[in-house]
Amino acid sequence: MYISSIEVADFRNYVRQTITLNDGINFVVGNNAQGKTNLLEAIYLCSVGKSDRTPRDKELIRFGSSKALIRLIANKEYETSKVEISLFADAPKRISINGMPISRMGELMGVVNTVFFSPDVMRIVKEAPSDRRRFMDIALCQMSRTYFYLLTRYNRTLMQRNRLLKSGVVDDALDVWDMQLVESGARIIKTRRGFIDSLNGVIGSVHQYLSGGRESLHLSYEAIEGDSVEAVGAAMKKRLIEDRDKDRLRGYTHSGPHKDDISFMVGDMDLRTFGSQGQQRTASLSLKIAEAELVARRGEKPVLLLDDVLNELDLERRKRLIERVASYQTIITCTHIDEQLNILNPHKIMIKGGVALVEE
Ligand SMILES: Nc1ncnc2c1ncn2[C@@H]1O[C@H](COP(=O)(O)OP(=O)(O)OP(=O)(O)O)[C@@H](O)[C@H]1O
Ligand SMILES: [Mg+2]
Repeated sequence: MYISSIEVADFRNYVRQTITLNDGINFVVGNNAQGKTNLLEAIYLCSVGKSDRTPRDKELIRFGSSKALIRLIANKEYETSKVEISLFADAPKRISINGMPISRMGELMGVVNTVFFSPDVMRIVKEAPSDRRRFMDIALCQMSRTYFYLLTRYNRTLMQRNRLLKSGVVDDALDVWDMQLVESGARIIKTRRGFIDSLNGVIGSVHQYLSGGRESLHLSYEAIEGDSVEAVGAAMKKRLIEDRDKDRLRGYTHSGPHKDDISFMVGDMDLRTFGSQGQQRTASLSLKIAEAELVARRGEKPVLLLDDVLNELDLERRKRLIERVASYQTIITCTHIDEQLNILNPHKIMIKGGVALVEE
């Protein structure tokens, strides 16, 4: 798929701007603090319904304004979708798809598929487990609405269970919550395990390509064991009962998919603890490209959003990355374009103080 245009009004530092994109490589070029990341943020918002930078929608509205608007046109092989998001300073946001307001956020999932690369994402291998879980969740929510609803249900149940633990609940009441937690939790684990398996089918070749054939990378999913939902469910239930005293003491649930992690193995070496910074960054990049390739295999190619990542790579890897993503619509922010990359004849959008200028 590709995005043909995006319109923003009173969004971050943009007053009103329409930007057309081509279906190949687009460079968004400008000095610091001009609005490059803001533009990617607007696209990302249309994709997953929230910003990757803030949970508070109000921050997205231009200072001094009371509302903001984003309108995006996404083109798939057989359909075109118009996504419109209105943000309000004093009311929840409203989203419509092709003019029809949606009532549940899940309806937006899969309409605009994006894979977002940022300097933070480039550190996913060395950051906290929660960042790696977030990676799985964002990818899976875009691929499956069922997963989105499962995760919402799980998080809500988990919050309620933790609240009960703090209030010194009796075992009988906990049984009910545990059953609900296991019901969605086991399915989340099963889905994530399948996702990691599928990623393993592509990440090896992506990583070999990016690292110049030097390394072979393999992911390992660290979670409650079990091949079927029933097996995971039984193991999870057992763990919840075993942990009850500890859970009550801390007012916190110690086992379940909210504790999962992914390890990045090169041979027997775990890159999370032993990788060099360059290795960790390349493995992070491989993970995101593998995600894109997996989404593409399931149907439409996602749009790739690359915020400031070229600077993090040496020229060799930069070139390899661009070659690998050449068949996707890619939107890349940078402060200047390398001479070596200019040969690709990209679409260039210059951004200055929230105003865009297309350079032909
Ligand atoms: N709600 C808002 N209203 C008005 N301006 C805002 C708002 N939120 C952020 N800004 C401004 O937007 C500007 C541009 O931000 P953005 O992150 O897009 O910069 P950038 O071009 O990506 O810069 P860099 O190269 O440093 O990453 C910032 O200077 C910030 O002050
Ligand atoms: Mg930026």
